[in-house]
Formats: sequence, C-alpha cells, structure tokens
Amino acid sequence: MAVTGIFKQFLLSLSTTLVVLLPLTFSASDSVALLKLKKSLKNAGALDSWVPGSAPCSGPRGPWRGLICQGGVVTGLSLEGMGLWGTIDVQALVELPGLSTFSVENNSFTHISPGINRLGALKVLSLSRNQFSGAIPSDYFAKMGSLKKVRLSYNKFTGEIPVSLAHLSNLVGLHIQNNQFSGRIPVFNSPILNSLNVSNNRLEGEIPSSLSKFSAYSFAGNPGLCGEQIGVHCPSTPNNIYKNITIPTMITFGVVIILLVIIIFFAIQLRKKKQKFSDVQPSGTSNDAVKAPPAVSVLVKTEESMKSAGSDLTVSNPGKASVAELVMVNDAKGVFGLTDLMKASAEVLGNGPLGSSYMVRMANGLNVVVKRMRQMNALGCDAFDAEVKKLGKLRHPNVLTPLAYHYRKEEKLFVHEHLPKGSLLNHLRGEGGGELDWLTRVKIVLGIAEGLEFLHNEFDSQDVPHGNLKLSNVLLGPDNRPLLSDYGFHPLLNMDCLERLFAYNAPEAIQKQTMSCKSDVYCLGIIILEMLTGEHPSQYANDGNGGSDTVQWVASAFSEGRQAELLDTKIKGCMNSVGSMEKLLHVGALCTKTSPEQRLGIKEAIRMIKEIQVGDVE
Ligand SMILES: *[C@@H]1O[C@H](CO)[C@@H](O)[C@H](O)[C@H]1NC(C)=O
Ligand SMILES: *[C@@H]1O[C@H](CO)[C@@H](O)[C@H](O)[C@H]1NC(C)=O
Repeated sequence: MAVTGIFKQFLLSLSTTLVVLLPLTFSASDSVALLKLKKSLKNAGALDSWVPGSAPCSGPRGPWRGLICQGGVVTGLSLEGMGLWGTIDVQALVELPGLSTFSVENNSFTHISPGINRLGALKVLSLSRNQFSGAIPSDYFAKMGSLKKVRLSYNKFTGEIPVSLAHLSNLVGLHIQNNQFSGRIPVFNSPILNSLNVSNNRLEGEIPSSLSKFSAYSFAGNPGLCGEQIGVHCPSTPNNIYKNITIPTMITFGVVIILLVIIIFFAIQLRKKKQKFSDVQPSGTSNDAVKAPPAVSVLVKTEESMKSAGSDLTVSNPGKASVAELVMVNDAKGVFGLTDLMKASAEVLGNGPLGSSYMVRMANGLNVVVKRMRQMNALGCDAFDAEVKKLGKLRHPNVLTPLAYHYRKEEKLFVHEHLPKGSLLNHLRGEGGGELDWLTRVKIVLGIAEGLEFLHNEFDSQDVPHGNLKLSNVLLGPDNRPLLSDYGFHPLLNMDCLERLFAYNAPEAIQKQTMSCKSDVYCLGIIILEMLTGEHPSQYANDGNGGSDTVQWVASAFSEGRQAELLDTKIKGCMNSVGSMEKLLHVGALCTKTSPEQRLGIKEAIRMIKEIQVGDVE
C-alpha cells in the first residue's frame, strides 16, 4: 500500500530527527527551566536537590527529587506532599518539551496559575488536595486534547464542571470528588473513559447515559443527582434524536412549523406535477431518490443549510436531493424513511471512538440503532453507496446486516436493528456480568469465528474485512447467538481516523501499519482471552496502566505452564471443563501471536474451537 510507505517514511524521518536532537539539546535547557520553576515556588525546601550545574535526570545522587525521566529527558513532575505554594511559572513548564505529567497533589496552592492550560501536550494533570477555589472557565481545557487523566479532587472548586473536560476525546480518568462543583454533569465524549469520580459535590440533574457504566460509587454525595445507577428516578423527558445536537431546540421547533407549511405546499405542487414527472424516465440518479417524498429532502436540506450558517433554503429537484435521503440497503425489517426516524423518540446509547449511537423506537414498532459517524469521508457519495449496499446484501446467522444509511457531507448515519440483549460487553462486564455459562461461551466464540470467516470470504480483497471486532461490537440475539456489527468500515473512514478501529491494536498495525485478515484474528483472540480470564485487556485503554496486558500475560503463563491459574473459575458450569477451558485459552493465545504468520488462520481456529465443543458435550 502506498499509504503504508508514506507512513513508514514519515515515522522513520521523525524518529531519526528525535534521536539526533534529544540528548544534545534538551537536558541542558531542562535544567534551566526547572530552576526557573523552583524560583517561582514558595516553601520549596523539598527541592534542594535542584541545583545548578548538575544534570536533572542523571545527577550524582540520581534524578532531582520529584522528576520523572525517560532517556535523560524530563517527562514528568511529581511534586506531591511538599508543602509548596505560590504562582507556578508556567513559562518554565512550557520550556520542558518532554513534559507529559504534571502533579502538584497534596500541597498548599490556592489559585490555578495563569496559563497552565497552555501545556497542550500534558497527558496527566493533578491538582488534587490543595486549596484551589473558584470556578474554572468552561473552555479551560479546550486546547489540552492530549489529557488522559485529570485530578482536581479535594479542593474547593465551585461552578459547573467545565464542559471542555467532557470534550477531551482521550480522557481515561477524571477525579473531581470532594469539591463544590454544581450544575449538571456534561455529556462526556471520550470512549475510553474508564475511571470516574464526581462524588461529594453539589451536582444535580440526570446522570448522562454515556456514563451508565459507572456505579453509584462514582456519584455518591450529590443529593440533586438522579439516574438508574444511584437508584433515584428522574422525571422522564422523551429525547429526540436531533435534540442534543448543535441546533438549539427552540430554533428547531420554530423551523419545524415553517417546514410543515413548506411541505404541504410542495406536496400540493408534487401532486400537480406527478403526471408529467412519471412520463419522463429518470436518468442517471438512483430510483430510491425518485420514490422518496420530497418532504424529507426538504427537511434535511434545510437543516443542513442552517448548520452551514444560513445559506439559501432553496430546494433542488428531487433527484439532486437524493444525497439527503435515507437509503435502504436491506428491507428485511421493512422500509422506512428519515422522517420515521426523526419523528420517533430516541435515547442515547453511548459514544464510541467512531461516533455516538442512539436507540430509536419507530412508530411501526421497530427499534433500530442509529450511529452517527463524522469521520467517514474517504469515499464520495456513489462509491459510499456501492460499498454500503454490499454490506446490505450479507446474509449469515452471525452477521448483523445494516438496514439503511444516510449520507451527508459532514456526517453519515448507519441504521441497524436494535437487539434488546445488547452487546457481549454488557454481558461480561455489565450488570448481568458473568451470567454466561461455559458452554454458552464456547458457542458464542464459535459463532463469532464463523461470522468472521464469512466476512473474510465475502471481502477477501479488503485489507481487513471486519476491522473493528471487539466485545461491544458483538451483539447477542435470541439464544445468545452472537451477531457481528460495525464491520467493513475500513474503506469508508478518513485516513487519520483509521486507528480508531480496534484491529489497529494488532502488533503489525502498531509496528508496520500493515493489516490483513490476521488482524481480525488477533481481535478474535483478545475476545477469547477476555471471555476466559475475566480480564480487561490494556488494548482498550492503551495508556500503559488502564489494565493488564492480557496477551503478554497469557503468553508467558503458557511458557511457564501456569495457564490454568488464569482461568476465571467463577464462570458457571466450568467445574468439569478445566481441560477444555485451557484448550480454548490456547486457541486465544495462538490467535494473538505477535507475528501474523504464526497466528492461526480463521479456518484453523474454527476447527480447533469445534473440537473443544464436541469434547465438552460428550
Ligand atoms: C500529604 O503530604 C503530607 C506531607 O506533607 C503527608 O504526611 C500526607 O500523608 C500526605 N497526604 C496524602 C493523602 O497523601
Ligand atoms: C470516590 O471518592 C469517594 C470519596 O473519596 C470515595 O468514597 C469513593 O469510593 C470513590 N469512588 C470510586 C468509584 O472510586
């Protein structure tokens, strides 16, 4: 692939530049910057190892106190419990180019030093256990997109939780407990947020459903909050799918009324023209568009032009407007249109790395999941249509076929059936956690593998046919039959978002930016390991400490003959199956081999899983 080449070259040139520059220039200026920082701190007795003339990371008695160093470069400052206060010289911190962690936990600071939010490369920021007070501006964290962990707990912060915190897409942990934050909890966007504590504040209103995976312990001590987790019923308000999107509800409301008038007008016009229209055979446009009532196109068109700051509201001919229609790719569940979706009530299911999803209850009784994808601009309208129609033709008991899509320049909607049981993720880690017994698990693993094999046969020319196989993309149908969803996105996604696909966790993708069917097998392997060990692999939150590296852990256990210790013995019905469990764990280990050549092929994996199943039933 040409892209792979360019990528590789870029990485290579980048790493050579770094290798040349780092040791020569950085450490000397690190020392100057740190001494400048020390000067700005009061009561800095704890920092008396910070003296001119010694190297910060490799002084005679080791690194200076409170420094985290990597390869001779200061990458972190952990100035905790030192009785410090004063106004931090932020310019000094800016001059530490390797700085990614900054903690002043448990000191006596009283105000946030101006400009801390200029440190755009910080990954960890901890201001916990000081005397900070006052409100934080809502856009304060807007330029700190690298932040993974933010700790503000045990201070006296007031005002609302800054909404810019909720918009950090890399956020893994947020701890703001024991402050005086008030107002509602904003809707968090980060798909990898896995640690949250907002306890003991003055928060109120409904806990956003994107935070539904967190328990009551994350929210305790906020008398005004309501939500399922904390057992407090919220007064219910039906949600419209387009509600918590950029357009204020009030405007939408007004526009809807105006639109109704326009729609009626056009409906009358259409009736008048109908005869004439059907005389002329449509040429070049898809017939979906011609069949569609123009009302819908008007609706969407208008909304579109409103978003692009009030351009003209003119309606082009129905053929042209086809881009704004809902295109059915699979009518197994009946035919519906965009209006059916927009009229229905919707509830937010959650935010994933590729976009947010909603459950929509349509008037005809069908419940569907609508996914809004903003990063799918790799293909133009026609190529996109062809690609998704291919997906719509798939028929396999373990593959969930999409029903419809909606194409607009700035976003795409994908619609598939809603399955009430939810995803495998809910069943392994959610409320019902662990209710799947051993035989069911084997059956599920086999079903996933067979669905994958089917996709591999159908899309054998694609780099990575599924590309996004993970627990949350395996849905459970009746009888716990697994159904793969969210596959086939690789050709659709913007280049710079490809790595959000789970298959990009495969070692060959990380190291060489190459992918193949074997990358899907790697993802299958991770699922197997998760289902047997109950561990949450670090691949989900690759920040180094968001979980153990299960792949590594299983591989070394096998090499030392300790694999039986890794099995989750709480799995129901596994008492007499330890032998088979070990065998399946072995399949998982073979699927997650670092080198794709050594990794199992999907057919071989299926054969091995079937053997286990037969062995266990007998
Ligand atoms: C805070 O720092 C003090 C020393 O200044 C230490 O004794 C105390 O244990 C620390 N508290 C926490 C909670 O870390
Ligand atoms: C959140 O913080 C409170 C107060 O320190 C603590 O009691 C609670 O256990 C924490 N919750 C979680 C989920 O860690």
